[in-house]
Amino acid sequence: MRVVVPPIKSQGIKTKLVPWIQALVPEVDGRWVEPFLGTGVVAFNSGFDKALLSDTNPHIIRFYQQVKEGRIRSASARRYLEEEGKKLRTAGNNGYDHFNVVKNRFNANHDPLDFLFLSRAGFNGMMRFNKKGEWNIPFCKKPNRFSKSYITKIANQVHDAACLIQKDWQFLNLSFDQIIPQAEENDIIYCDPPYSGRYVDYYNGWSEEDEQRLFDLLSATKAKFILSTWHHNDYRENDMISKYWNSFNIVTRDHFYHSGGKIENRRSIVEALVFNFDANVREHNHGIEPKPEQLLIFEQREQYITQQLVRPDV
Ligand SMILES: C[S@@+](CC[C@H](N)C(=O)[O-])C[C@H]1O[C@@H](n2cnc3c(N)ncnc32)[C@H](O)[C@@H]1O
Repeated sequence: MRVVVPPIKSQGIKTKLVPWIQALVPEVDGRWVEPFLGTGVVAFNSGFDKALLSDTNPHIIRFYQQVKEGRIRSASARRYLEEEGKKLRTAGNNGYDHFNVVKNRFNANHDPLDFLFLSRAGFNGMMRFNKKGEWNIPFCKKPNRFSKSYITKIANQVHDAACLIQKDWQFLNLSFDQIIPQAEENDIIYCDPPYSGRYVDYYNGWSEEDEQRLFDLLSATKAKFILSTWHHNDYRENDMISKYWNSFNIVTRDHFYHSGGKIENRRSIVEALVFNFDANVREHNHGIEPKPEQLLIFEQREQYITQQLVRPDV
């Protein structure tokens, strides 16, 4: 599966897990409902014509809404990044002075292109906001960050997003408890909430009350759902699984990542997908074994995505 990568980055991005998640998606003729949209990578690879997409982070929603409306296009993003990249290259303090100009401008005006800049010039592709809701990730310390090839890569990602966003994709800036009740029987809900106890920031607090509320709403929904969460890591289990999610179906898979650059910092976590429908899957590693007809739909989606990507108007 060719995974389409979005222009916005964050530490919680599910790019590597997309094929695993998409292979589990059942055949439904309703909408793709995603209340915790984040970078949008899972939605962009869903292949659905109709979608209800939401996040409490208004910057993400504003960015994609403007891409949908054609106010942000591949060409305008390229022009913007060329201009700002040039200023970054020659700015004092090894580029930091201009990074701060963009950061302060974004914190005052919330311009979606400045959001794109910060997302791509921040340390390690992270996204975090402080208690006042201001951008809180430092500069990656690379004044030459916006090279020609990097700008082309980002412009292409904006192009891909513009091609994949359909007219019936609705973007909302609401909390999950206002989105899940809107899902109907033929919809599929995909939930990727903040993991409790990790990445707490202005838009990413997550308490046990939130988990309980999510459980109540997903237990009550008539729609099918898939929930991403973690099962256990090298040190502990996720208590929320035994407390809430064990009554549904669960598949797991190992996921390796680096915390810091060194090889000895390689960590593993067992990721879980919780879902409320029947699927032909092995429980661990991950052996999702699609039925022939599911495989077919999957291929059709891929073909659809590839076709959509050759839209000529950007
Ligand atoms: C783990 S991230 C989603 C990552 C996404 N699947 C991706 O691959 O990029 C969780 C997202 O939930 C959003 N969020 C946090 N609390 C929320 C809430 N109460 N309702 C809706 N969205 C929320 C955060 O802003 C963040 O974008």
